[in-house]
Amino acid sequence: MDSSLPFFSFVSFLIISATFPFAATSDTIKVSLSPSHHHHSSSSDPYQILNNLATSSVARAHHLKHHNPKTNITSSLLKTPLFPHGYGGYTVSLSFGTPPQTLSFIMDTGSSLSWFPCTSRYLCSQCAFPNVDPSKIPTFSPKLSSSGKLVGCRNPKCNWLFGPNVESRCQDCDGPTSKNCNQTCPPYLIQYGLGSTGGLLLLENLVFPPHKTFQDFLVGCSIVSNRQPAGIVGFGRSPESLPSQLHLNKFSYCLVSRRFDDTKVSSNMLLETGSGSNDTKIPGLGYTPFYKNPNPAFHEFYYVTIRKILVGNKQVKVPNSTFVPGPDGNGGAIVDSGSTFTFMERPVFELVSKEFEKQMGNYSRAREVENISGLAPCFNVSGHRLMDVPEMSFYFNGGAKMGLPLANYFSIVGDDNVVCLMIVTDKGVGEGARSGPAIILGNFQQQNYYIEFDLANNRFGFAKRNCA
Ligand SMILES: *[C@@H]1O[C@H](CO)[C@@H](O)[C@H](O)[C@H]1NC(C)=O
Ligand SMILES: *[C@@H]1O[C@H](CO)[C@@H](O)[C@H](O)[C@H]1NC(C)=O
Ligand SMILES: *[C@@H]1O[C@H](CO)[C@@H](O)[C@H](O)[C@H]1NC(C)=O
Ligand SMILES: *[C@@H]1O[C@H](CO)[C@@H](O)[C@H](O)[C@H]1NC(C)=O
Ligand SMILES: *[C@@H]1O[C@H](CO)[C@@H](O)[C@H](O)[C@H]1NC(C)=O
Ligand SMILES: *[C@@H]1O[C@H](CO)[C@@H](O)[C@H](O)[C@H]1NC(C)=O
Ligand SMILES: *[C@@H]1O[C@H](CO)[C@@H](O)[C@H](O)[C@H]1NC(C)=O
Repeated sequence: MDSSLPFFSFVSFLIISATFPFAATSDTIKVSLSPSHHHHSSSSDPYQILNNLATSSVARAHHLKHHNPKTNITSSLLKTPLFPHGYGGYTVSLSFGTPPQTLSFIMDTGSSLSWFPCTSRYLCSQCAFPNVDPSKIPTFSPKLSSSGKLVGCRNPKCNWLFGPNVESRCQDCDGPTSKNCNQTCPPYLIQYGLGSTGGLLLLENLVFPPHKTFQDFLVGCSIVSNRQPAGIVGFGRSPESLPSQLHLNKFSYCLVSRRFDDTKVSSNMLLETGSGSNDTKIPGLGYTPFYKNPNPAFHEFYYVTIRKILVGNKQVKVPNSTFVPGPDGNGGAIVDSGSTFTFMERPVFELVSKEFEKQMGNYSRAREVENISGLAPCFNVSGHRLMDVPEMSFYFNGGAKMGLPLANYFSIVGDDNVVCLMIVTDKGVGEGARSGPAIILGNFQQQNYYIEFDLANNRFGFAKRNCA
């Protein structure tokens, strides 16, 4: 089915959808979720902003694809490649400590450790908050909290990041049984696509007012960072993630449209804890199972099986091997809230973009816009009364179909007369060209969807919904 709509209504394209019943039990925690501001340095040039988002989406993909989470303790470093967060992410507010201190965090399903900017000596280089002096970045102050403690090197939670080799880690302790060992878990350093953060691990109270507190939550107290817009809360699948530490049955969110960047519009993220997992499917939702990649390097990610991709009525002839990881773990598709635009590795992207070019052959290509925005293909739709863009849809294992709203894969770029496909790829050549997930479903594609990560039933659920 082609989505034909009057051109002028493109921007205000909205989805009408039902509201879903939530099991509003006392075990459901509500937090507010809003798009992070995407002003990059002082840029107000819309092409530049898009170019930055496209570049960071590709950098994010590169680092998710070359993921090597656990490194040897001997290096005393933890390298969890991530991406230049923010400017295209969504943030949540969380409170830590006694009394609670509230800070803003990027919500990231592609990583697991949570951390906040920490202490008055927090140093952040190239941290371009909109109109904020880096020295005024809100930080957590351990001194003002009575509940925080450093993690000991023998604490099993230290193993989550540094592996089980306690003896090499706790060399300053008298012996394996010595009780008076005050050595701490080594400092962490997390490397990102275009940045990094480092600090010490703390056990702190994670507080959801008015009356829910999780004690001894493992969180990073970052002292130095580069290019970080805020702290990060990790919703990945490793033991240190928030869902693992809180034993969540489910978390769900609804991402408001990126049109609301820089506004106060937000939506709720729901965290469901408690016993008695409920496998009732919510009517109206499409579901597909999560699975774990056979390669432990990618265990942290939420893999889903795409069966086919359609552009208009045409099935794109993507090789099946794209959709399923091989024995080396490469290939497959993940859902990632921390990527802005959806990523497809080059061979897949080319098949998809060629199909759009073919079906949109009546529009002239806007090559100049492609060059400066980093997006392609872009079309000049000036002089066309109706804009005719083929529907893009993904079919998942289990039969669920995600027929995307136009605004989730095509967008006006700069000039009102130019629209671009909002999917990115990389150069796809050289060493490691085929590594990690082949497809990363980013948050731009998830706008105006109710999304649930049903962990108890190991499945991904979604339905179109107006989130604002
Ligand atoms: C299970 O969840 C469904 C949908 O949220 C709800 O209608 C139902 O009451 C729940 N059942 C139990 C036993 O909690
Ligand atoms: C970790 O260290 C051990 C021994 O020091 C070594 O055999 C192993 O290859 C190292 N692993 C990695 C991932 O570097
Ligand atoms: C660790 O313990 C030793 C001896 O018990 C003490 O000298 C040292 O100051 C302690 N270090 C810290 C950081 O508490
Ligand atoms: C690819 O998958 C589809 C659907 O699962 C199947 O019908 C088809 O035979 C597969 N093709 C190959 C080459 O394995
Ligand atoms: C281009 O426009 C012509 C005339 O309106 C139409 O017949 C044709 O189907 C269009 N081609 C495509 C690829 O949309
Ligand atoms: C786009 O960039 C390419 C390579 O840099 C250049 O050859 C081409 O002329 C540019 N096209 C336009 C329309 O700017
Ligand atoms: C789009 O096409 C119109 C008419 O041909 C032209 O005037 C305009 O400059 C084009 N815009 C871009 C960005 O190429």
